[in-house]
Amino acid sequence: MSLTTPIAQALCAALELGPGQAGEIERLLSTPPNLALGDFAFPCFQLARQLRSAPPKIAAELAAKIPTGGLISRATAAGPYVNFFLNRTAATRQVIGAVRTAADRYGASDDGAGRTMVVEFSSPNIAKPFHFGHLRSTNIGANLARLFEFAGWQVVRRNYLGDWGTQFGFVIYAWRRWGDEAALAARAIDYLVELYVRAYRESEQDPSIRDQARELFRRLEQGDAEIVPLWQKFRELSLAGFVRTYTRLAIGFDNFDGEAAASRNMDAVIRRFVTAGVAVESEGALVVPVADVIGRDIAPLMLRKSDGASTYAARDCAEAIERYSRYRFDGNIYVVSRQEDYFAQLFVALSKLGKAEGWPVDWPALCQNVSFGFVRGMSTRKGEAVWLEDVLDEARDRARRVREEKSAANPRSFPVLPTAELDAIGEGVGQAALLYFDVSSRRLSDVSFDWDTVLQFEGNTGPYLQYAHARMCGIFRRAGEQGLAAGDAPAAAVADEEWALVLCIREFPSAVQRACVGREPHEISRYLGSLASAFNGFYNNHMVLDPADPGTSAGRLALVGASRTVLANGLRLLGIRPLEVM
Ligand code: ARG
Repeated sequence: MSLTTPIAQALCAALELGPGQAGEIERLLSTPPNLALGDFAFPCFQLARQLRSAPPKIAAELAAKIPTGGLISRATAAGPYVNFFLNRTAATRQVIGAVRTAADRYGASDDGAGRTMVVEFSSPNIAKPFHFGHLRSTNIGANLARLFEFAGWQVVRRNYLGDWGTQFGFVIYAWRRWGDEAALAARAIDYLVELYVRAYRESEQDPSIRDQARELFRRLEQGDAEIVPLWQKFRELSLAGFVRTYTRLAIGFDNFDGEAAASRNMDAVIRRFVTAGVAVESEGALVVPVADVIGRDIAPLMLRKSDGASTYAARDCAEAIERYSRYRFDGNIYVVSRQEDYFAQLFVALSKLGKAEGWPVDWPALCQNVSFGFVRGMSTRKGEAVWLEDVLDEARDRARRVREEKSAANPRSFPVLPTAELDAIGEGVGQAALLYFDVSSRRLSDVSFDWDTVLQFEGNTGPYLQYAHARMCGIFRRAGEQGLAAGDAPAAAVADEEWALVLCIREFPSAVQRACVGREPHEISRYLGSLASAFNGFYNNHMVLDPADPGTSAGRLALVGASRTVLANGLRLLGIRPLEVM
């Protein structure tokens, strides 16, 4: 039972409402600006009309009718609010108990039970650079997938590879002209990108290259026995490179079918658009008008170009239909930036086809483009084409250096470590810094990246939170040495800083819920920042380990334990390993 349930029940009784309305009352409860005013507040404004009375008067009457005892220790009126004070000891015991029982599932729910969410993310292009946009998509998508899973959804992780399109014409052209097996074996994707860039650049001087590239792609589309194996080889090599990086981040996908696979159903789907009368010819191209539905001046969705070439959009239509028939999803998220108009067109085109063919799928309601802002300033020694792998290496090396500097300056807090351990910590901290940076602002905001800031052991950063977790683990190690163990709840009166921490721990499940509803992993980072400050407020003001007072120590250790569980759960949701030593 939640801490606010008994408050809502008491209010219902006082207002002579049925118990069925307790949920609604509970949602109206707010948090007063400081603890001296109470732990929860009920605003009486909205009752004024119904009860024909002034809010302060209603508040005073209500407060007098609230029975105390159990979890509620006091209810007082303050202006138009009824303020509630809880019995801190009982409430703390309850919150700590809930964290202990649920452990690594604390914060999880069954909100999505029986429903399926497809999360499409990362979706890099083969033989084109994996840029920061893919990097952000990889992280935001992986976070959303974990969040929805935690909220009880069945989650499908889709990586829709950009493995089709005219870029392959250029790569194959370049390969036949300059290709070098040894270079391909050694540098794989990097080499393919170089080939693509070289052919593309030269085509600007020599337009015949463009024609040859087009022709090669056309042969690929027709299944030419000489060209298809080349494409297959390039795709496999690239995919192996991507998977190496994903593995390092412990990110998995259920399916890597990309545009090539989608293109197999494409012609049939285009025919359906035509037969249904949804697609029309326009200047030789085949398009689906969408401006009538979207209600502003927006181009139609192009299914086929005037030169007969297929489009990215046609492949997406085929893919979406295939995806629906395969998963019967209740939600389908595309984590892609700067294609907002395109996805709006896509969803409308699908819904027009669906209406014309009479299927019960409400595409615009089920599908969503989760977009995100720019990252400025992210580059590596190798230059600006940002390969996730290089960024991860750089993060690891830099984190290791920061750790070495720390142990040189402060060997008591940061003991000198053997190389293997230092490497492992470097990898963990480097990843945490990078991944956490990405969620430390709302996804739609543009952000500036700066290595020194993200690697700091202070402020709301990944390394800082990992360090906080390692410190909590350290407290337990020292407790063990001193023969102290955690109890169920504080032994004596719960001090303000302890209580603030308890209230914060209690908030975690709603932060998870907000993150899911808003498709906003930043909610978790914001939450973890406030958890860390609540923990510091507690830890800096109260001695946890006191061998002379094992009772008080036991209560405070219980709080440290609950904080550690919540911090670890939050970090894991963000794909960050909670470290025990740092
Ligand atoms: N491969 C595309 C790119 O790198 C992203 C794919 C987005 N997903 C989709 N279903 N269109 O820009």
